[in-house]
Amino acid sequence: MKEKYSEKKILITGGAGFIGSHVIRLFVTKYPNYQIFNLDALTYAGNLENIKDIENAENYHFLKADITDAGLIKALFQKHQFDHIIHLAAESHVDRSISNPKIFVDTNVTGTLNLMEAALEIWQGNFENKLFYHISTDEVYGTLGETGLFTETTAYSPNSPYSASKAASDHFVRAYGETYDLPYVISNCSNNYGPNQFPEKLIPLFINNIIEGKTLPVYGDGKYNRDWLYVLDHAKAIDLVFHKGKNKSTYNIGGFNEWQNIDLIKLLCKIMDKKLARKEGKSEALITFIKDRPGHDKRYAIDASKINAELGWKPSVTFEEGLKKTVDWYLQNPGWIEAVVSGSYKEYYKEQYNGI
Ligand code: NAD
Ligand code: TYD
Repeated sequence: MKEKYSEKKILITGGAGFIGSHVIRLFVTKYPNYQIFNLDALTYAGNLENIKDIENAENYHFLKADITDAGLIKALFQKHQFDHIIHLAAESHVDRSISNPKIFVDTNVTGTLNLMEAALEIWQGNFENKLFYHISTDEVYGTLGETGLFTETTAYSPNSPYSASKAASDHFVRAYGETYDLPYVISNCSNNYGPNQFPEKLIPLFINNIIEGKTLPVYGDGKYNRDWLYVLDHAKAIDLVFHKGKNKSTYNIGGFNEWQNIDLIKLLCKIMDKKLARKEGKSEALITFIKDRPGHDKRYAIDASKINAELGWKPSVTFEEGLKKTVDWYLQNPGWIEAVVSGSYKEYYKEQYNGI
């Protein structure tokens, strides 16, 4: 390995997914003297097209592996001797966790444990310049009432199998810090949106359905709140927490940008009508209220004042800007969307939305 690239050996898991691909690109281009290893099993959500532009960079390496395979993970850690791990690989969709919870335990809990075990084995108690950075979600806190915000000290109260599996993995990371002195940081972020997001999540699903003139399936009455953050702002926060976060602490990351689903959907419809040169109201007419998601969390909103005060992070992209950039990306990349909605996506869609 060339000396000039060996300053840090960082393993990033889940780098072929939505957020991971933006983190990989940021690290590979911003830090040419780091070796970046992208470990990903390429599940339905993993797509190497997301990082095609950097695949030939000298400081980038791809490892196809499943984090549930403890033996393989240990062998890869022995071979490459990583100094740092940024762990994003996960099953990430709430609706899928409702119909198939076990894989969420396998990947999100056991997979995280396997990575920490492998790190402890190669680091052998020498934790200088070592870090396990666990990427988590605000959904671990459960749901808010009409007022208030999630802070780093809010009690965990997960309501979906997805958020329960993320909460369990957060607890294990913290426990490994206390019990084995594993150096760690955890960040809990709000809902992300942006290019390359799989069209099972609200914003890309609705963009794709509007393009195709398909029904927009709104769960319940649509009066559920989420706090939206542009994915590149999350990647920048991860960069800061990785380099400057305090050992054994957690950071909440959010957009200071709370929207009720139905208002967001109407805004998206307006933007899409303009972009597609359709008559105003055409997309809104596709809205259909359907049976609610079981255990649907009413409201998420993050207090991101700790990361702001300690590390100087704040979102840089306004929601209007970010939404337009996102819509433009999907309109300019029909090939990407066509490839991901073929095959197993069709079956998922039929089952989830009852053929509407
Ligand atoms: P994603 O579903 O788009 O991507 C997940 C990636 O992990 C895929 O590339 C997939 O192939 C890989 N993966 C899944 N199972 C694996 C396994 N067993 N072994 C190896 N790789 C595997 O997810 P995302 O939305 O990019 O989320 C990334 C992380 O950020 C997750 O940990 C998620 O909990 C967290 N997060 C997401 C959001 C959000 O709004 N999307 C918000 C906060 C936190
Ligand atoms: P989602 O993107 O699945 O993120 P999360 O549930 O992790 O916050 O959903 C965001 C919001 O949009 C959530 O309140 C559920 C709602 N939603 C719908 O109304 N219809 C849909 O088809 C989807 C996927 C989500």
